[in-house]
Amino acid sequence: MKHFNIAIDGPAGAGKSTIAKEVARRLGFVYVDTGAMYRTMALHFIRSGIDPKDEQAVAASCRDVDVSLRYENGVQQVLLGGENVTGLIRTEEVGNMASATSVYKPVREKLVELQQALARRENVVMDGRDIGTCVLPDAPAKIYLTASSAVRAGRRYKELVEKGVECDLAEIERDIIDRDYRDMNRENSPLRQAEDAVLVDSSCMTVEQVIAAILEAAKSRG
Ligand code: C5P
Repeated sequence: MKHFNIAIDGPAGAGKSTIAKEVARRLGFVYVDTGAMYRTMALHFIRSGIDPKDEQAVAASCRDVDVSLRYENGVQQVLLGGENVTGLIRTEEVGNMASATSVYKPVREKLVELQQALARRENVVMDGRDIGTCVLPDAPAKIYLTASSAVRAGRRYKELVEKGVECDLAEIERDIIDRDYRDMNRENSPLRQAEDAVLVDSSCMTVEQVIAAILEAAKSRG
């Protein structure tokens, strides 16, 4: 049986994971966070002492790495060689390594295969950078979720301050702009809006409004 898949792409900090998770919950679909997979690979490269600029070393190290997913009470867990590393991948160090190494084809090929296999088995809401363009080009519902870099930086700043982390708003915005640039200008699967994706700019929208817009887009394509 062919499954109904929803692809959500967009730049860092657009709120994809919060929104995608809730959309999946309401529809009873499986939520797949593909960024977590690139982060898991990145953790493997960090642990192996790999220089992210060394493409050969990254490619070789990719070959024998085992990344897999498991769901606990509906929540995605990422496993690296069987070890649950979900709690270890949200650091800046891992995020930067993921951004630097996701440009390489062998990294992408391995993870895309895993993502496509999942989408063949389940109804998924999958978020990332290349889901509508490369991973699930035939997905019936595609969303490109974005917001201005100032709004995204402001949200991230608030999140960090609430956690008691000292940070600088201007620096956060610079980081976001750099990461966007890398994601949008890489050779392999750059971030861009698929031709048939619905554009949702959440700069001036509440979470509930964004969810409603996505559910509406899914319904109209279903
Ligand atoms: O979304 P998140 O910030 O967790 O993703 C980490 C990094 O993984 C991103 O900066 C991006 O470079 C990469 N990524 C990707 N393709 C995806 C998901 C994430 O290249 N589908």
